[in-house]
Amino acid sequence: MGRVLVVFDTKFGATRDIAEEIGRSLRGVGLEADVVAVSASPEIAKYSAAVLGAPIFGGHVGSALCDWVKANREALENMTTAVFEVGASARTDTPEVRASLDQAMNVALCESPFLGSTLPRGRFAGRIDPDKLPAPMRFMMHMAKLPAGDWVDLDVVHSWAIGIASRLV
Ligand SMILES: Cc1cc2nc3c(=O)[nH]c(=O)nc-3n(C[C@H](O)[C@H](O)[C@H](O)COP(=O)(O)O)c2cc1C
Repeated sequence: MGRVLVVFDTKFGATRDIAEEIGRSLRGVGLEADVVAVSASPEIAKYSAAVLGAPIFGGHVGSALCDWVKANREALENMTTAVFEVGASARTDTPEVRASLDQAMNVALCESPFLGSTLPRGRFAGRIDPDKLPAPMRFMMHMAKLPAGDWVDLDVVHSWAIGIASRLV
């Protein structure tokens, strides 16, 4: 059986918690799965499927995931991939929220029509702790009228991971 890579970016840890729950859930149904930060430049050759995720800040996904996808695009497009997005806006599920989260992620996925296209997209609410934000981000948070809170729901993440598990093997 092949190995699944769960690769994620994070600034404040919510996406790491979500990625780790995905890894645990996949291992719980018998898959071999590694959860690796994109900053560690995981080696795609070791894997037969990948789950990619990142948080959205100011309507964008950070460049780290984008750079890693660019470097590994061919391999990724030749395996099954699933994609998840993390943002405060995912607290509510509307067509507008889905579209804005997906648009931000699609840029990071090099607008590839293949990546994540065969599996349901994960859209998960994250968390904002103003005390942990550097001053410019706290300012940005106020300007964007973002609330503080912890909306991470690992049960929702688990259900999504279980739902895609059989398609990753
Ligand atoms: C300055 C700032 C800007 C943000 N911009 C967005 C945004 O545009 N859309 C969104 O859905 N969430 C936004 N968020 C919420 C983050 O995506 C959320 O806090 C996420 O959990 C961060 O992930 P991390 O903990 O893995 O870094 C923003 C948060 C901050 C602090």
